[in-house]
Amino acid sequence: MKSLILYSSLTGNTKKIAYSIYDAIQGEKDIKNISELVDESINYENYDIVFLGYWVDKGICDKNSKQVLENIHNKKIALFGTMGASTKGSYGASIIEKVESIVSKDNENLGSFICQGKIAKELKVKYEELLKLHPENEHISEQLNNHEESQSHPDEQEISEAIIFAKDVMSKVNTIM
Ligand SMILES: Cc1cc2nc3c(=O)[nH]c(=O)nc-3n(C[C@H](O)[C@H](O)[C@H](O)COP(=O)(O)O)c2cc1C
Repeated sequence: MKSLILYSSLTGNTKKIAYSIYDAIQGEKDIKNISELVDESINYENYDIVFLGYWVDKGICDKNSKQVLENIHNKKIALFGTMGASTKGSYGASIIEKVESIVSKDNENLGSFICQGKIAKELKVKYEELLKLHPENEHISEQLNNHEESQSHPDEQEISEAIIFAKDVMSKVNTIM
């Protein structure tokens, strides 16, 4: 049994979840930052399960993780992500649905986890400018409200939930094998 954790992370939130998952799971395992893969092609044959972590960029997974995701075939796969928005509303579920739709049907999708991550300061400025242009846009104002609240995320609770998710995925892999 060997696991691969791939993650894409601009400001460290998704990396934090990725390493929590990596530390929590048993057996042989590798962890790789997608942006450092460059010319390295991954031999997925070596792995029984691939965890792929993304950060939410304009309502979908970031383009680096999307590109990697599109090239995974015939694997057991589990997805995790972080986003600036709160997980209280339905937004998180809509992101999960969109990202899962990218997973090629020849894979076996063992589930998704998403949590909030702190929003970068630069983005707050950008959202303030966007709101001036689109004052009616609820998502933008919601993101601005979330900025302050997001600063403590991912928190201990979310990290524990990510670990529970990962262990649940691993138990599914063990059952299937
Ligand atoms: C360019 C950019 C676009 C973003 N777009 C969204 C978005 O559409 N929805 C959202 O909830 N969060 C959005 N965020 C917030 C990030 O998804 C969030 O801060 C995430 O935790 C970043 O993960 P990272 O630290 O691993 O890079 C965006 C952040 C950036 C920098």
